[in-house]
Amino acid sequence: MLDGRRILVTGGSRGIGAVMVETLVREGAAVALHYGRSREPAERLAERLGPRVVTIGEDLEQPGAGRRLWAHALEKLSWVDGVVLNAAVVRTAPLLTESDEGWDASWETTLQVNLKAAADIVRAALPHFLERRQGSFVAIASRAAFRGDDPEMLSYAASKAGLVALTRSIARAYAKDGVRAYVVAPGFVETEMAAASLRDPSERARAVAEIPIGELARPEDVAEVAAFLLSGRAPHLTGATLDINGASYVR
Ligand SMILES: NC(=O)c1ccc[n+]([C@@H]2O[C@H](COP(=O)([O-])OP(=O)(O)OC[C@H]3O[C@@H](n4cnc5c(N)ncnc54)[C@H](O)[C@@H]3O)[C@@H](O)[C@H]2O)c1
Repeated sequence: MLDGRRILVTGGSRGIGAVMVETLVREGAAVALHYGRSREPAERLAERLGPRVVTIGEDLEQPGAGRRLWAHALEKLSWVDGVVLNAAVVRTAPLLTESDEGWDASWETTLQVNLKAAADIVRAALPHFLERRQGSFVAIASRAAFRGDDPEMLSYAASKAGLVALTRSIARAYAKDGVRAYVVAPGFVETEMAAASLRDPSERARAVAEIPIGELARPEDVAEVAAFLLSGRAPHLTGATLDINGASYVR
């Protein structure tokens, strides 16, 4: 499905990102696997998947990291057909009880990694996509952008809503130039991020009870949808959001 395509995946060393890299490579793509601080798992994964994977380290909390990441990806891949904006953090800050310092830190880090770095990558990538008159962005947002989240997750929910608005804006502005931009909005997916929010077994039971399909999604569910979007088979889906939440939030 992706033979000959070259794709940048942010946050590709673990969780959904790692399965995404594996899926895209299996479908024939060459992948720039971006990682933050976790160099070893990234290198191990790249080694296992073979020469079609190159790795790039960049801490997206740092200003300008998104631009540097794009420049490295282009340098290593020579051209890029698609970008999966997957890297994200959750920094909880209980709305009424968090210290001012903790509250500020939650917002600064979350907006920088989940939204500003993504915007920097999109802005850096666009001239290349426009020049080639083709290129796709797949933004991994969240059900939280639409349904809202718990009060200690406000910065996360808001960052994902921002990512949705950004992606839709790109879809509208550049559709005529061959650029596609899609939103993928998972509910709970079985990764370390979900495990951190669902440490307490009763919390997990409550979360699963809310999902009609009866279980958390698997990273593969997200990766397969992204692979399809990156294949170019559905250009008129540009601007759309694909919900992957086991019917827990149907709209
Ligand atoms: N797991 C879920 O339940 C769930 C639900 C909805 C949406 N999502 C979204 O799916 C995507 C992947 O999440 P996941 O569950 O695999 O989480 P995860 O925590 O396992 O992975 C997040 C990735 O982002 C990278 N990252 C975080 N901070 C970074 C930084 N400062 N610099 C560079 N990279 C950084 C991490 O290294 C990691 O590779 C995220 O955008 C997340 O918001 C996850």
